[in-house]
Amino acid sequence: MKEAIIDETVSVIIRDVDIPTPKPGQVLIRVVVSGTNPKDWKVPKWQPGTPLNQGDDIAGYVEAVGEGVRNFRKGDKVAAFHEMLSPHGSYAEYAIAWEHTTFHLTEKTSFEEAATIPLAAMTAALGLYQELRLPLPWAPADKPTPLVVYGGATAVGAFAIKFAQLSNIHPIIAVAGKGAPFVETLISREKGDTIVDYREGDDAVRSAIKAASKGTPIHHAYDAVSEKGSYVNLGAALDAPGKITVVLPAEADKVKEQISIRRTMVGTVHMPPAEGQALGDKEFGAAFFPFIGQGLAQGWFSGHPYEVRKGGLGGLEGALKDLEAGKASAVKYVVKIAETEGVQQ
Ligand SMILES: NC(=O)c1ccc[n+]([C@@H]2O[C@H](COP(=O)([O-])OP(=O)(O)OC[C@H]3O[C@@H](n4cnc5c(N)ncnc54)[C@H](OP(=O)(O)O)[C@@H]3O)[C@@H](O)[C@H]2O)c1
Repeated sequence: MKEAIIDETVSVIIRDVDIPTPKPGQVLIRVVVSGTNPKDWKVPKWQPGTPLNQGDDIAGYVEAVGEGVRNFRKGDKVAAFHEMLSPHGSYAEYAIAWEHTTFHLTEKTSFEEAATIPLAAMTAALGLYQELRLPLPWAPADKPTPLVVYGGATAVGAFAIKFAQLSNIHPIIAVAGKGAPFVETLISREKGDTIVDYREGDDAVRSAIKAASKGTPIHHAYDAVSEKGSYVNLGAALDAPGKITVVLPAEADKVKEQISIRRTMVGTVHMPPAEGQALGDKEFGAAFFPFIGQGLAQGWFSGHPYEVRKGGLGGLEGALKDLEAGKASAVKYVVKIAETEGVQQ
């Protein structure tokens, strides 16, 4: 089968490899569409010299299951989150995922839409519920709970807004720029939600965030940007005691003392709790992926806007370079594996 690997210059090499065999607990998926993520160009630069298949967002059909897999069988239409940095990612004709990070799709959901979801939506959910400890959708907020989503047009931020809506968390104060018209479609102005334009500069962003909650203290922020001064702005705008969850490494001393910074790491859904520790993100993921599948089937959850990059795996390099250049605004780039030269699906 064809597989694409990415090196530290963000060049994509397409090579022929064997179709993998699923181990116990794993699912082998014939990839129809793969999503892309910023980490796919970042990790090769952080770890030069070991080009890897970085694809983590899988949408396709189950081809085979490993021993002990109970919920999936050959032919099922699924989406899945591949274990980051492990072999057999989604930039290939076939990919491997664990059963607990795979969920069913109905005819209603396209593979393109589904491929925008697993990594980014789970990052949003973990940040909101595991790190910020905000109310879950099935036990929604019953009082005003201001939440700042910095980067409302990012895939992670947009999913955070969608989950916040399901949890009745309002007012949502979304920070966005070019993607503001898209963010407008996600928020509820009648519930006090609003958009702050980051292009106005740091001082304007801080005061607009404060003003947006109309006097209700703001104790929570989801920082889906976590660079370019975002969490420093949040630290200045939040009321103590406050919690910010970030998606990149952050310097805690850049915010005042009573504001804590918690890092969200989506890879934790692949890690069992340490010995003696309570159940954690792995179990959260196992419960939340099927919940997302239910939302797609019933129409109360949806994917991110997407753009299909032409040429299948051959279009990947351009997509990743555009991601690196910051060209993606309110869009996830996806590739259709069947468009790859030499692939017959
Ligand atoms: N820790 C983890 O587990 C984890 C998981 C997933 C992603 N991440 C990281 O999270 C970040 C977001 O990922 P993603 O896939 O959601 O990104 P993405 O969708 O590709 O982000 C693109 C968006 O970034 C927005 N943006 C850029 N600068 C901004 C700023 N200063 N303020 C507000 N918005 C800004 C742009 O908004 P406008 O269009 O409005 O200008 C654009 O729409 C990346 O750094 C990624 O590496 C981490």
